[in-house]
Amino acid sequence: ENFGGNEIGRDQFICILINNRYNPEALVRKSQEARNQAYCPYSKFRVGAAVLTSNGTVFTGCNVENASYPLGLCAERTAISKAVSEGHTRFKAIAIASDLEDRFISPCGACRQFMREFGSQWDVYLSKSDGSYKVMTVEELLPCSFGPDDLRATENTVGNSKL
Ligand code: THU
Repeated sequence: ENFGGNEIGRDQFICILINNRYNPEALVRKSQEARNQAYCPYSKFRVGAAVLTSNGTVFTGCNVENASYPLGLCAERTAISKAVSEGHTRFKAIAIASDLEDRFISPCGACRQFMREFGSQWDVYLSKSDGSYKVMTVEELLPCSFGPDDLRATENTVGNSKL
């Protein structure tokens, strides 16, 4: 079995899906590689992410900070935005890597909501710098969430009336 994948571009990667299964270690490794690109001159806190789409494509991202501090982007949202902007909105998993040695990097609240936009039942791999990880679903990270279906539920209510 070869879960390793074939390089198809500078930052895209096909993770071979066999029987619809993927290799989490390979995805964590991709997030660690993305961490090398972190632009974090202010926090010096490097983060990388790698998101696996339903067709086996991987998009990576890093945090991108800014002299205007609040504009900084997290690695997870960078990776997901790259995927969405290339036409991918169905995700199987995202791996996150930082330099923290003794704790699993955990996505911020904004990134959890950003993930949830594309479903609650997919996997988030929270890794330590040695590549060990724990996995949680988006639902577990963001229970009782607000999402696209909640907006659709308001379609016929008075608040949305065209009268
Ligand atoms: N950061 C991420 O990119 N992802 C996370 O999961 C946690 C935090 C970034 C944001 C900022 O550039 C730096 O880490 C410090 O908060």
